[in-house]
Amino acid sequence: MADYLTKNGARNVFYGGSAFFFAIFLGLTAHSAYYMRTTSTDETTLTDSVARGKHVWEKNSCINCHTLLGEGAYYAPEVGNVWTRWGGQQDPATARESLKGWMAAQPSGIEGRRQMPQFNLTDQELDDLADFLEWTSKIKTQKWPPNDAG
Ligand code: HEC
Repeated sequence: MADYLTKNGARNVFYGGSAFFFAIFLGLTAHSAYYMRTTSTDETTLTDSVARGKHVWEKNSCINCHTLLGEGAYYAPEVGNVWTRWGGQQDPATARESLKGWMAAQPSGIEGRRQMPQFNLTDQELDDLADFLEWTSKIKTQKWPPNDAG
């Protein structure tokens, strides 16, 4: 037997290693998908209005300034937790009104504060957006992002 790695040996290490780690990769991917469906989100609460609210969020590119669960732009506050920060867990009706009031009052025009545009959303769109933000606030993210600021 040769005391160095033959071409065949190197090929076997390469293919064997690739197959082994690809199998692990597939397993972990399947586990992530399973975990998301069964543990981190609750599909039974995924209503049409939550889905419509996500479209409102996307159509208006809120992510261009905000982060949602830590992902996005760092110009404006994290909104994945805005529902919780505005007391939505204790009093959902007030949190909903706060969101509508906030959206109606932009831009604030307050000197020295960053400005958020006026989106002129309809009442239906605002309700959908509130449902989306409420649903998002209930995703079990394993404490991500690590602080309120995203
Ligand atoms: C051009 C950048 C920009 C875009 C786009 C934008 N926002 Fe904002 N948003 C801001 C800024 C800046 C603030 C903070 C303003 C302040 O504190 O006075 C803010 C604040 C907020 C707040 C209050 C957050 C808090 O913690 O107090 C909410 C809720 C919010 N935005 C929702 C939205 C939604 C929903 C959209 C999309 C429809 C959106 N924003 C799009 C810039 C933006």
